[in-house]
Amino acid sequence: MENIQLHIPTKIYFGNQIFAEALKEEFSQIKGNILLVIGSNSIKKNGYVNEVIRDIQLSQKEGTIISYDEISPNPKINQINTAIKIGLGNNVVCLIGMGGGSALDAAKAIAVGIGAKTNIDEYFYGTKQPDLRTLPIYAIPTTAGTGSELSKGAIISCPKETIKKGIRSQYIYPKAAFVNPRFTYTMPKTITKETGFDVLTHAVESYISKKANTFTEMLSIEAIKIVSDNLPKLINNIENVEARDNMSYASMIMGINLGNASTCLPHRMQYPIGALTDTSHSAGLASIYIAWIEYAYQYSEEKFHHMASLLAHKICKNKSDTIESFTTFLSRIEMNKSISDLGINKNHIPCLVNNVTGSIDNDPASVEEEIIQKIYIRALD
Ligand SMILES: [Fe+2]
Repeated sequence: MENIQLHIPTKIYFGNQIFAEALKEEFSQIKGNILLVIGSNSIKKNGYVNEVIRDIQLSQKEGTIISYDEISPNPKINQINTAIKIGLGNNVVCLIGMGGGSALDAAKAIAVGIGAKTNIDEYFYGTKQPDLRTLPIYAIPTTAGTGSELSKGAIISCPKETIKKGIRSQYIYPKAAFVNPRFTYTMPKTITKETGFDVLTHAVESYISKKANTFTEMLSIEAIKIVSDNLPKLINNIENVEARDNMSYASMIMGINLGNASTCLPHRMQYPIGALTDTSHSAGLASIYIAWIEYAYQYSEEKFHHMASLLAHKICKNKSDTIESFTTFLSRIEMNKSISDLGINKNHIPCLVNNVTGSIDNDPASVEEEIIQKIYIRALD
């Protein structure tokens, strides 16, 4: 049996029924002000934010909740720095990120800045790393996809310089994640399919990652089965509550894989696309996915056959079966795009290649600049 190392430092509460009790359990111990970070395309209107504030205030003995709701999709460095100032001005003692991955990632970066009493610039542009001073972070996802509630990554953008980058550290793991699938029931179709596809990419990439182990592989396969069975159902009927619950679960277990097996090249290659075009994480991933699989297939043939078979519900045993299975699934979930659809042409390719950052050591193939360029060019078709 292989040696396995797992790190799951976040306490997980999953389910609709235990949610209020879980908030009570965690926040009754907090003495001081809390900064609640939510997205700018507000989830406030469906009442979930008020519900959370009410439940926390009922249990919190000292302190108040300050809301910051200016976080955009692809959270921007200036939004993070503004929130850090607000947090420092109000002596906040912990952070809650509530919303999609952007709000959760922003809360992590804000917690770093408030803890260190500085803006986030040196962590983003420089080499400074989060440390023990980072404030505790609590995560309440309202989408089912990013897995940010269980991960040690915070992805931030600087649109002026078309940079999108991850701050990664063991100190930004949320202390607790409250996954309430009910909060995803009102997600519009576009976000449902995009976040659902993100779950699939986390499963695929963590499955073939060099860091994968027996345990994370088991979770990847489980997530792929769930996505294969449930995401197309949601595309047909976004009110399918059972499918929603299942997708929340798949997203959550892929959060475990993000922290332990990580992702591969597509996630590194999407960041420059997102930064350049201000398009969503999933749209960028979808636009390069088939081009990447065409290249990566040769390094993990058996694993690709297994995944493709689960998506197609039939045996796939060669490259063309595999490509067809993934292509068909992307169409079924309405995520078949090319990077031209996102406004990219061949003149943008050198800029994209230059801005691929982060560790690409997880990829089963040795990844060189020339390969990255080829994948981007292939994705233009
Ligand atoms: Fe992702």
